[in-house]
Amino acid sequence: MSQPTIESILQENRVFPPPEEFSREAAIASLEDYQQLYDKAKADPQAFWAELAEKELHWFQKWDTVLDWQPPVAKWFVGGKMNISYNCLDRHLTTWRKNKAALIWEGEPGDSRTLTYAQLHREVCQMANVLKELGVQKGDVVGIYMPMIPEAAIAMLACARIGAAHSVVFGGFSSEALRDRLNDAEAKLVITADGGYRKDKAVPLKEQVDLAIANNHAPSVKNVLVVQRTGQKVHMEPGRDHWWHDLKLNASADCPAEPMDSEDLLFILYTSGSTGKPKGVVHTTAGYNLYTHMTTKWTFDLKDTDVYWCTADVGWITGHSYIVYGPLSNGATTLMYEGAPRPSNPGCFWDVIEKYGVTIFYTAPTAIRAFIKMGEHLPKARNLSSLRLLGTVGEPINPEAWMWYHKIIGNERCPIVDTWWQTETGGFMLTPLPGATPTKPGSATFPFPGILAEVVDLDGNPAADNEGGYLVIKHPWPSMMRTVYGDDERFRRTYWEHIAPKDGQYFYFAGDGARRDEEGYFWVMGRVDDVISVAGHRLGTMEIESALVSHPAVAEAAVVGKPDELKGEEVFAFVTLEGDYEESEALEKELKQHVVNEIGAIARPGEIRFTDAMPKTRSGKIMRRLLRNLAAGQEIAGDTSTLEDRTVLDKLRGGA
Ligand code: PRX
Repeated sequence: MSQPTIESILQENRVFPPPEEFSREAAIASLEDYQQLYDKAKADPQAFWAELAEKELHWFQKWDTVLDWQPPVAKWFVGGKMNISYNCLDRHLTTWRKNKAALIWEGEPGDSRTLTYAQLHREVCQMANVLKELGVQKGDVVGIYMPMIPEAAIAMLACARIGAAHSVVFGGFSSEALRDRLNDAEAKLVITADGGYRKDKAVPLKEQVDLAIANNHAPSVKNVLVVQRTGQKVHMEPGRDHWWHDLKLNASADCPAEPMDSEDLLFILYTSGSTGKPKGVVHTTAGYNLYTHMTTKWTFDLKDTDVYWCTADVGWITGHSYIVYGPLSNGATTLMYEGAPRPSNPGCFWDVIEKYGVTIFYTAPTAIRAFIKMGEHLPKARNLSSLRLLGTVGEPINPEAWMWYHKIIGNERCPIVDTWWQTETGGFMLTPLPGATPTKPGSATFPFPGILAEVVDLDGNPAADNEGGYLVIKHPWPSMMRTVYGDDERFRRTYWEHIAPKDGQYFYFAGDGARRDEEGYFWVMGRVDDVISVAGHRLGTMEIESALVSHPAVAEAAVVGKPDELKGEEVFAFVTLEGDYEESEALEKELKQHVVNEIGAIARPGEIRFTDAMPKTRSGKIMRRLLRNLAAGQEIAGDTSTLEDRTVLDKLRGGA
């Protein structure tokens, strides 16, 4: 099994039409239906979105202007007032959905909880009141550092309810990474838990928060709200740290949702880029609500009877948009699972599907590759007949993994939606609509209605069929990121100037290469910048390099992605040492651990290669292309004539 290569994908010409019985029941039931919707949206995007906003969402006050576009700054539904927590909860309470399961949660050790819409609403209101009591006001930022338990979703919705922005930090990030993010966002309060379960272990979280904010290192943080999950012993700083279960006892369940301006900040979510520290991606209220609502509804062809399970963590955008906001806004039943497939029960995912009769299953290619490795006897031993739709996200899926998913999990009757999107886009950009789009393994197919996607060259000219280029979006869409938190200039530079605007046409570009085949299908080839994807997690090579050089032994570091069968890519680091240090296995281990401490376990280098010098151009730039070849164990491709010292390469090869 391997990652898709241009060659393997070019040879991919299998087509899977939507199963007839699926299309028969689907809201968008044919390619013609899709085309009509697409054309309608393209002809008048503002009218298209306005009609849906009116029909699908609750507003305290209607907008005056659908779109105010001063490139690259977009404002949607200007003058409108709404609250996403109201749309996700309150409006369902006056319908039969009041007692429908909103959130089904399965804990790793086997405990479980189901919250109806009424119960979830109650908990959210209580937490919202507790936040207010602790001094959180509209416009403040709240950090959330949680395991995958219902309170993670409750915390997000509670913030949204009172108009505080949340900044969720993935629980696998280290205290250092957490601190950077809390400081950048100037978070006033942190919501966390004592710990959480993952892969048969209780992972400490509160302890990491303590380390992050100790010695006034995160001075904006005044309070910490702690949910008890594992029962492990934690330090509770008097006056600063509060148990959720204590404060909940006296918290009122009456907390009307704050009417928010459409463009009020909803959340900040940090993500890696090719340069500098992680960027705080800013999403605002109404456009994000509408777009995640519509993409959930149409891409998953949601029915009221669905039990929908997205296996992401709420620490990533997928968890935000497609565990919490999109499904709940639609009144769906969303399932949340605490852990990951674990040594003591590698078949646990299939158990969950069988136990709850999951109908829609949405996961990442890296997980599918791990399932393949664990063996098909595991899913085959369970009854997965409840499934009707499958999805993938996060990285290009190799056709072999797609076929396995189709055959073994979907029993050849479930469509697969391969959804291409990003933290920055807020929701799906390219995706099949399952009742309408014939799929091709490895292709995210076509743009969602309202999305004008294209593959272009550096001058913005469309690429010919099957010719590679940059994947861009040419018209604003409701859930597009609004800016980089606190850095409008970086926003402009990073996303809007890579391909220069031409004749008033702006091109949104966030780093992926792609091609379009002769039938208009998009094939995303992966990042063209220095961002790597390890097990579907996006990491900036520069962040890892900075972590390495912060160790006293390291003089210089260069990090590249090495192709990996399971994880897609693995972190491979080339390191030169300071004069007094000698390479050793112990030092290699220490450096790997250092990266874990600085960023988190997801960034741990798989391999570190010590070298006396880096291959550089005469102007002193590290030639990463060569390092990528070396890491992959390939012959050096292309021109090396700009290399300053050719003997460096021989030395690096010698270490291979
Ligand atoms: O390279 C693309 C890849 O993941 C990147 C976005 O990462 P992140 O912001 O962490 O969001 C991940 C979840 C949306 C993209 O630039 N990517 C995401 N989905 C796909 C994909 N690559 C190919 N096919 C996909 N379906």
